[in-house]
Amino acid sequence: MTIATVIMAAGKGTRMKSKLPKVLHKVAGKPLVQHAVNLATAVGDATPVVIVGHGADDVKAALGDTAQFALQADQLGTGHAVMQTEDLLKGQVDQVLVWAADMPLLTAETLQSVIDTQAKNSGPITMSTIIAENPRGFGRIVRQTNQSVAAIVEHADCTPAQLEIKELNVGVYCFDAAWLWENLHNIEKSPKGEYYLTDLIAMAVGQGSRVEAVILEDNTEAIGINTRVHLAEAEKLLRQRTNQYWMDAGVTLVDPDTTYISLDSTIGTDTVILPNTHIEGATAIGENCTVGPNTIIRDCTIGNYCEIEASVLEEATMENHVDIGPFGHLRKGAHLADGVHMGNFGEVKKSYLGPGVKVGHFSYIGDATIGENTNIGAGTITCNFASDKTKHRTEIGKDAFIGSDSMLVAPLTIGDRARTGAGSVVTKNVPEDATAVGVPARVIKKRKES
Ligand code: UD1
Ligand code: MG
Repeated sequence: MTIATVIMAAGKGTRMKSKLPKVLHKVAGKPLVQHAVNLATAVGDATPVVIVGHGADDVKAALGDTAQFALQADQLGTGHAVMQTEDLLKGQVDQVLVWAADMPLLTAETLQSVIDTQAKNSGPITMSTIIAENPRGFGRIVRQTNQSVAAIVEHADCTPAQLEIKELNVGVYCFDAAWLWENLHNIEKSPKGEYYLTDLIAMAVGQGSRVEAVILEDNTEAIGINTRVHLAEAEKLLRQRTNQYWMDAGVTLVDPDTTYISLDSTIGTDTVILPNTHIEGATAIGENCTVGPNTIIRDCTIGNYCEIEASVLEEATMENHVDIGPFGHLRKGAHLADGVHMGNFGEVKKSYLGPGVKVGHFSYIGDATIGENTNIGAGTITCNFASDKTKHRTEIGKDAFIGSDSMLVAPLTIGDRARTGAGSVVTKNVPEDATAVGVPARVIKKRKES
């Protein structure tokens, strides 16, 4: 059985009151349509097909080559939307799975169960439904006296009795592909001038075929986004789901309500996350770390036994037993090896700090390599930015001692075990074991003769 996935994303999303197409609004750090494409990739065989209309160019640009696209220039309904995919898909696959891009809480397990049910169905359609007290304007599932599905009736078209039906159409369908292409064009225009995909259910039943319904256990999966309030609700529910997952996996979240973990991040067991911590992008945190409070970590790799307090870390690497903060800032390309200590108000960019390096207090280290166990005194700055606007490197050896408030004017090399005096402005290389002081710094103590 080969499966194509089709994501409907052509609608405008008027109620978002936004210049951005609805499906590009983000939850858990990703556009709605990206969540859908990720699910599609998990369950489908071919590249997902996204039906675009409003803001088509923006949606295409956001997805790049993770999807292929069918344009629906005028939005004449969900049935009409799927018609636009026929040229791409006809004759290519056995099953076609269709749903809307605005349902970020759907899971791959749910989609898979709809696919699996359809694989066993003698008839041409399986869909998913929920049983709910609040109808949310969803289509109602009408069942026959033998309880098999008869039709979906749209909210606007329901009789008073049908309005009481508690089983609702989620909007996820798996079709037998050959049947779909044969029957899709027989959908008649609704009084509103739309072609309803949901009309296919009664059409199949009318042909004497069976339509299956998979009833979801978790109704929150069916939540669709129409307003900014829905967006916030979905954000919260996704966060709760993610946080539950990490707690079940052995991570302590002291306050899950204020812990934000992206879907692409991982955390090792016995790590403790303190309140108001944001773990974003693709971040990997090891075991036995303490992170937070008030910390933002984006696209970082962090080893085991690290402590990060009230700091901001971006695209950085920390090995094991590293501690930082409060108020540290690691920027792109910062690499702190085992046992590095970085105290308050330090910033490190594009630099390697070897094992055991200490940067205790307010420093800027940029474009530098620092050898193991070197101590960087308070207020030290690597002056990496030259007047010609190019960046220059600072190389510091191991076991060196950089005095407080040293200005290290790059390009510069400071040898192993060398020292600089407090307040020195170092413009020339300092040899191994030598000591340089003053403004500009001069060597006052030559290296020991061996
Ligand atoms: C649809 C279902 C309804 C179901 C509900 C679940 C139909 C006729 N009704 O209603 O039974 O309970 O979803 O949320 O399908 N879209 C397009 N092109 C179009 C029209 C819609 O791409 O021409 C996309 C929209 O962007 C949206 C999705 O399809 O993401 C659903 O369309 P919408 O018009 O909102 O249908 P509902 O009224 O919500
Ligand atoms: Mg809708």
